[in-house]
Amino acid sequence: MSEPGTRPMIEVRGVSKAYDGGVVRALNGIDLRVEQGEWVSLSGPSGCGKSTLLHLVAGLDSPTAGSIVVNGREIAGSAELDEYRRSELGLVFQFHYLLANFTSLQNITLAMFGNKRSRKERVAYARELLGDVGLVAKERQLPSTLSGGERQRVAIARALANDPAIILADEPTGALDSAATAVVLELLRGIQRERGVTILMVTHDPGVAAAGDRVVYMRDGQVVADAAAAHGVGAEAWRGVG
Ligand SMILES: Nc1ncnc2c1ncn2[C@@H]1O[C@H](COP(=O)(O)OP(=O)(O)O)[C@@H](O)[C@H]1O
Ligand SMILES: [Mg+2]
Repeated sequence: MSEPGTRPMIEVRGVSKAYDGGVVRALNGIDLRVEQGEWVSLSGPSGCGKSTLLHLVAGLDSPTAGSIVVNGREIAGSAELDEYRRSELGLVFQFHYLLANFTSLQNITLAMFGNKRSRKERVAYARELLGDVGLVAKERQLPSTLSGGERQRVAIARALANDPAIILADEPTGALDSAATAVVLELLRGIQRERGVTILMVTHDPGVAAAGDRVVYMRDGQVVADAAAAHGVGAEAWRGVG
Protein backbone atom coordinates (compact mmCIF):
# COMPACT_ATOMS: atom_id res chain seq x y z
CA MET A 1 0.00 0.00 0.00
CA SER A 2 1.36 3.43 -0.88
CA GLU A 3 1.91 6.16 1.68
CA PRO A 4 -0.52 9.07 1.99
CA GLY A 5 0.56 12.05 -0.05
CA THR A 6 1.81 10.12 -3.03
CA ARG A 7 -1.23 10.41 -5.27
CA PRO A 8 -4.29 12.65 -5.38
CA MET A 9 -7.55 10.77 -4.75
CA ILE A 10 -9.94 13.73 -4.96
CA GLU A 11 -9.20 16.85 -7.04
CA VAL A 12 -11.77 19.62 -7.04
CA ARG A 13 -10.89 22.48 -9.39
CA GLY A 14 -12.73 25.76 -9.72
CA VAL A 15 -16.04 24.27 -8.63
CA SER A 16 -19.06 26.50 -8.26
CA LYS A 17 -22.65 25.56 -7.54
CA ALA A 18 -25.61 27.89 -7.93
CA TYR A 19 -29.20 27.12 -7.04
CA ASP A 20 -32.41 28.76 -8.08
CA GLY A 21 -31.03 30.18 -11.31
CA GLY A 22 -28.04 31.80 -9.61
CA VAL A 23 -29.90 33.42 -6.73
CA VAL A 24 -28.15 31.11 -4.27
CA ARG A 25 -24.42 30.69 -4.80
CA ALA A 26 -23.69 27.72 -2.55
CA LEU A 27 -20.11 27.24 -3.79
CA ASN A 28 -17.87 29.85 -5.30
CA GLY A 29 -14.68 28.60 -6.98
CA ILE A 30 -13.62 25.73 -4.73
CA ASP A 31 -10.20 24.12 -5.11
CA LEU A 32 -9.49 21.11 -2.95
CA ARG A 33 -7.10 18.19 -3.21
CA VAL A 34 -7.23 15.11 -1.00
CA GLU A 35 -4.37 12.62 -1.19
CA GLN A 36 -4.83 8.88 -1.25
CA GLY A 37 -5.13 7.62 2.32
CA GLU A 38 -5.59 11.08 3.78
CA TRP A 39 -8.44 12.14 6.09
CA VAL A 40 -9.62 15.67 5.38
CA SER A 41 -12.29 17.29 7.54
CA LEU A 42 -14.42 19.97 5.90
CA SER A 43 -15.57 22.43 8.50
CA GLY A 44 -17.16 25.85 8.80
CA PRO A 45 -20.44 27.41 9.91
CA SER A 46 -23.87 26.17 8.95
CA GLY A 47 -24.78 27.11 5.39
CA CYS A 48 -21.19 27.64 4.18
CA GLY A 49 -21.53 24.91 1.54
CA LYS A 50 -19.97 21.83 3.16
CA SER A 51 -22.77 19.42 2.31
CA THR A 52 -23.10 20.85 -1.18
CA LEU A 53 -19.42 20.15 -1.83
CA LEU A 54 -19.63 16.64 -0.39
CA HIS A 55 -22.72 15.86 -2.50
CA LEU A 56 -20.91 17.00 -5.63
CA VAL A 57 -17.94 14.75 -4.85
CA ALA A 58 -20.44 11.93 -4.22
CA GLY A 59 -21.99 12.53 -7.63
CA LEU A 60 -25.36 13.16 -6.00
CA ASP A 61 -25.57 16.55 -7.70
CA SER A 62 -23.55 18.22 -10.45
CA PRO A 63 -21.55 21.46 -10.31
CA THR A 64 -22.53 24.60 -12.22
CA ALA A 65 -18.85 25.01 -13.17
CA GLY A 66 -15.54 23.30 -12.58
CA SER A 67 -14.02 19.84 -12.53
CA ILE A 68 -14.07 17.01 -9.98
CA VAL A 69 -11.63 14.17 -10.61
CA VAL A 70 -11.89 11.19 -8.27
CA ASN A 71 -9.42 8.32 -8.47
CA GLY A 72 -8.47 9.49 -11.95
CA ARG A 73 -11.97 9.87 -13.37
CA GLU A 74 -13.91 13.06 -14.12
CA ILE A 75 -17.27 12.81 -12.40
CA ALA A 76 -18.72 16.25 -13.16
CA GLY A 77 -21.22 15.50 -15.92
CA SER A 78 -20.45 11.77 -15.93
CA ALA A 79 -23.24 9.42 -16.98
CA GLU A 80 -21.94 6.56 -14.83
CA LEU A 81 -22.47 7.94 -11.37
CA ASP A 82 -24.31 4.90 -9.97
CA GLU A 83 -21.41 2.68 -10.94
CA TYR A 84 -18.96 5.29 -9.59
CA ARG A 85 -20.66 5.39 -6.21
CA ARG A 86 -20.90 1.61 -5.97
CA SER A 87 -17.30 0.96 -6.93
CA GLU A 88 -15.47 3.85 -5.26
CA LEU A 89 -17.50 5.27 -2.39
CA GLY A 90 -18.83 4.47 1.03
CA LEU A 91 -21.33 7.05 2.19
CA VAL A 92 -22.14 7.88 5.82
CA PHE A 93 -24.66 10.54 6.80
CA GLN A 94 -25.85 12.12 10.04
CA PHE A 95 -28.76 9.69 10.12
CA HIS A 96 -28.07 6.02 9.61
CA TYR A 97 -30.69 5.26 6.92
CA LEU A 98 -30.68 1.58 7.86
CA LEU A 99 -33.65 -0.40 6.56
CA ALA A 100 -35.96 -0.81 9.55
CA ASN A 101 -37.23 -4.30 8.70
CA PHE A 102 -33.83 -5.86 8.17
CA THR A 103 -31.23 -7.02 10.68
CA SER A 104 -27.78 -5.47 11.09
CA LEU A 105 -26.30 -8.27 9.00
CA GLN A 106 -28.94 -7.99 6.28
CA ASN A 107 -28.47 -4.24 6.02
CA ILE A 108 -24.84 -4.91 5.12
CA THR A 109 -25.40 -7.85 2.75
CA LEU A 110 -28.10 -5.86 0.91
CA ALA A 111 -25.51 -3.17 0.20
CA MET A 112 -23.47 -5.80 -1.64
CA PHE A 113 -26.18 -6.20 -4.26
CA GLY A 114 -24.60 -6.39 -7.70
CA ASN A 115 -21.06 -7.19 -6.58
CA LYS A 116 -19.19 -10.35 -7.47
CA ARG A 117 -19.38 -12.19 -4.16
CA SER A 118 -21.54 -15.29 -3.77
CA ARG A 119 -24.36 -15.23 -1.21
CA LYS A 120 -22.22 -17.20 1.23
CA GLU A 121 -19.25 -14.88 0.79
CA ARG A 122 -21.48 -11.85 1.34
CA VAL A 123 -22.71 -13.15 4.66
CA ALA A 124 -19.19 -14.05 5.77
CA TYR A 125 -17.84 -10.64 4.77
CA ALA A 126 -20.75 -8.81 6.40
CA ARG A 127 -19.96 -10.67 9.65
CA GLU A 128 -16.32 -9.67 9.34
CA LEU A 129 -17.35 -6.02 8.88
CA LEU A 130 -19.68 -6.20 11.88
CA GLY A 131 -16.69 -7.54 13.80
CA ASP A 132 -14.62 -4.56 12.67
CA VAL A 133 -17.19 -2.21 14.23
CA GLY A 134 -17.55 -4.37 17.35
CA LEU A 135 -21.10 -5.57 16.73
CA VAL A 136 -20.83 -9.25 15.84
CA ALA A 137 -23.11 -10.14 18.75
CA LYS A 138 -25.86 -7.90 17.34
CA GLU A 139 -26.05 -9.28 13.80
CA ARG A 140 -29.64 -10.47 14.18
CA GLN A 141 -30.99 -7.29 15.75
CA LEU A 142 -33.21 -4.80 13.99
CA PRO A 143 -32.04 -1.16 13.93
CA SER A 144 -34.80 -0.15 16.37
CA THR A 145 -33.23 -2.38 19.03
CA LEU A 146 -29.78 -0.76 18.72
CA SER A 147 -28.50 2.43 20.34
CA GLY A 148 -27.85 5.47 18.15
CA GLY A 149 -24.11 4.85 18.27
CA GLU A 150 -24.57 1.19 17.34
CA ARG A 151 -26.79 2.08 14.40
CA GLN A 152 -24.16 4.46 13.11
CA ARG A 153 -21.53 1.72 13.48
CA VAL A 154 -23.69 -0.60 11.37
CA ALA A 155 -23.98 2.22 8.82
CA ILE A 156 -20.18 2.46 8.75
CA ALA A 157 -19.88 -1.30 8.25
CA ARG A 158 -22.41 -1.00 5.42
CA ALA A 159 -20.34 1.79 3.87
CA LEU A 160 -17.44 -0.69 3.66
CA ALA A 161 -19.53 -3.43 2.03
CA ASN A 162 -18.03 -2.96 -1.43
CA ASP A 163 -14.47 -2.10 -0.32
CA PRO A 164 -14.57 1.59 -1.22
CA ALA A 165 -11.43 3.61 -1.89
CA ILE A 166 -13.12 6.63 -0.28
CA ILE A 167 -15.50 7.27 2.59
CA LEU A 168 -17.58 10.43 2.30
CA ALA A 169 -19.24 11.32 5.59
CA ASP A 170 -21.62 14.23 6.24
CA GLU A 171 -21.86 15.05 9.96
CA PRO A 172 -21.47 11.35 10.87
CA THR A 173 -21.46 12.18 14.58
CA GLY A 174 -24.08 14.93 14.40
CA ALA A 175 -26.77 12.85 16.13
CA LEU A 176 -24.48 11.15 18.68
CA ASP A 177 -23.46 11.86 22.27
CA SER A 178 -19.80 12.46 23.04
CA ALA A 179 -19.03 8.84 23.99
CA ALA A 180 -20.54 7.45 20.77
CA THR A 181 -18.82 10.25 18.81
CA ALA A 182 -15.43 9.16 20.16
CA VAL A 183 -16.13 5.54 19.19
CA VAL A 184 -17.15 6.49 15.64
CA LEU A 185 -14.09 8.71 15.14
CA GLU A 186 -11.82 5.96 16.43
CA LEU A 187 -13.44 3.49 14.03
CA LEU A 188 -12.92 5.82 11.11
CA ARG A 189 -9.29 6.25 12.14
CA GLY A 190 -8.84 2.47 12.21
CA ILE A 191 -10.48 2.09 8.79
CA GLN A 192 -8.18 4.75 7.37
CA ARG A 193 -5.09 3.06 8.84
CA GLU A 194 -5.89 -0.55 8.13
CA ARG A 195 -7.59 -0.25 4.76
CA GLY A 196 -5.82 2.82 3.42
CA VAL A 197 -9.21 4.41 2.78
CA THR A 198 -9.33 8.12 1.94
CA ILE A 199 -11.82 10.04 4.10
CA LEU A 200 -13.59 13.32 3.39
CA MET A 201 -15.74 14.20 6.39
CA VAL A 202 -18.03 17.18 6.85
CA THR A 203 -18.57 18.53 10.35
CA HIS A 204 -19.45 21.91 11.83
CA ASP A 205 -17.85 20.76 15.12
CA PRO A 206 -14.18 21.83 15.45
CA GLY A 207 -13.47 19.09 18.00
CA VAL A 208 -14.72 16.44 15.57
CA ALA A 209 -12.91 18.05 12.62
CA ALA A 210 -9.62 17.76 14.51
CA ALA A 211 -9.87 13.96 14.31
CA GLY A 212 -8.74 14.19 10.67
CA ASP A 213 -5.25 14.78 9.33
CA ARG A 214 -6.15 18.15 7.86
CA VAL A 215 -9.00 20.59 8.34
CA VAL A 216 -10.28 22.67 5.44
CA TYR A 217 -12.43 25.59 6.54
CA MET A 218 -15.16 27.01 4.39
CA ARG A 219 -17.13 30.20 4.62
CA ASP A 220 -19.73 31.56 2.19
CA GLY A 221 -18.99 28.90 -0.41
CA GLN A 222 -15.22 29.38 -0.39
CA VAL A 223 -12.22 27.71 1.20
CA VAL A 224 -10.78 30.19 3.70
CA ALA A 225 -8.21 28.11 5.61
CA ASP A 226 -6.43 24.78 5.41
CA ALA A 227 -4.47 23.46 8.39
CA ALA A 228 -2.94 20.28 9.76
CA ALA A 229 -5.23 19.04 12.51
CA ALA A 230 -2.61 17.81 14.99
CA HIS A 231 -2.62 19.02 18.58
CA GLY A 232 -5.71 21.16 18.34
CA VAL A 233 -4.30 23.40 15.61
CA GLY A 234 -7.61 22.90 13.83
CA ALA A 235 -9.61 24.38 16.67
CA GLU A 236 -7.31 27.44 16.77
CA ALA A 237 -7.72 28.07 13.05
CA TRP A 238 -11.46 27.70 13.46
CA ARG A 239 -11.49 30.57 15.97
CA GLY A 240 -9.48 32.59 13.47
CA VAL A 241 -12.15 32.39 10.80
CA GLY A 242 -15.16 32.56 13.14
N1 LIG B 1 -31.20 22.24 -3.13
C1 LIG B 1 -30.94 23.52 -2.76
N2 LIG B 1 -31.66 24.54 -3.28
C2 LIG B 1 -31.40 25.82 -2.94
N3 LIG B 1 -30.44 26.19 -2.07
C3 LIG B 1 -29.70 25.22 -1.51
C4 LIG B 1 -29.90 23.83 -1.82
N4 LIG B 1 -29.01 23.09 -1.10
C5 LIG B 1 -28.28 23.97 -0.38
N5 LIG B 1 -28.70 25.25 -0.61
C6 LIG B 1 -28.10 26.47 -0.03
O1 LIG B 1 -26.72 26.44 -0.26
C7 LIG B 1 -26.01 26.95 0.86
C8 LIG B 1 -25.05 25.90 1.37
O2 LIG B 1 -25.79 24.81 1.95
P1 LIG B 1 -25.10 23.51 2.56
O3 LIG B 1 -24.10 23.02 1.60
O4 LIG B 1 -26.18 22.59 2.96
O5 LIG B 1 -24.35 24.09 3.84
P2 LIG B 1 -23.69 23.34 5.09
O6 LIG B 1 -23.68 21.89 4.84
O7 LIG B 1 -22.33 23.95 5.20
O8 LIG B 1 -24.52 23.72 6.29
C9 LIG B 1 -27.06 27.37 1.88
O9 LIG B 1 -27.33 28.73 1.69
C10 LIG B 1 -28.25 26.53 1.47
O10 LIG B 1 -29.44 27.14 1.86
MG1 LIG C 1 -24.59 20.31 5.92
